[in-house]
Amino acid sequence: MSEYERTFVMVKPDGVQRGLIGEVISRLEDRGLTLVGAKFMQIDEDLAHDHYAEHEDKPFFDGLVSFITAGPVMAMVWEGQDAARQVRRMMGATDPAEAQPGTIRGDLGLDLGRNVIHGSDHEDPGANEREIDLFFDDDELVGWEQIDEGWLYE
Ligand code: RTP
Ligand code: MG
Repeated sequence: MSEYERTFVMVKPDGVQRGLIGEVISRLEDRGLTLVGAKFMQIDEDLAHDHYAEHEDKPFFDGLVSFITAGPVMAMVWEGQDAARQVRRMMGATDPAEAQPGTIRGDLGLDLGRNVIHGSDHEDPGANEREIDLFFDDDELVGWEQIDEGWLYE
């Protein structure tokens, strides 16, 4: 059985400016995932560097940092069975131009550098915890049981 886990998700500055916070939250709620933390905030330079440290040497790094610090983001933690992988599947490919219709990026974006949503990399075993810890203190997360849980999971 897949792991019940928490994963970090963020509506990026383009998604916030375009009024897509509600759309993204609705899709994750409708899927059955549980929201356990949310923070509307602006990312500063230091946090951007920490969050995207894996891309520090890439040619697109400076542009990526400028973009992610350019306006507010909606940072969130979502919980559920196989949560990280399921969120990534719902997000679609990194480049919205290649993302399948039906995915968040495939439905809501057109450009690689404006791809609406971030989700922790499910293939990196430490990513969920690292990114949640980077954005949230423990007391900002709320563990709770959704009333439909017995109807969502066998
Ligand atoms: P993210 O971390 O933002 O959720 O996106 P991702 O996992 O799907 O993609 P990742 O490889 O981690 O890349 C991070 C962000 O950098 C931008 N990017 N630009 N110009 C390029 O070749 C290029 N490659 C990636 C994208 O905006 C991507 O979301
Ligand atoms: Mg990534």
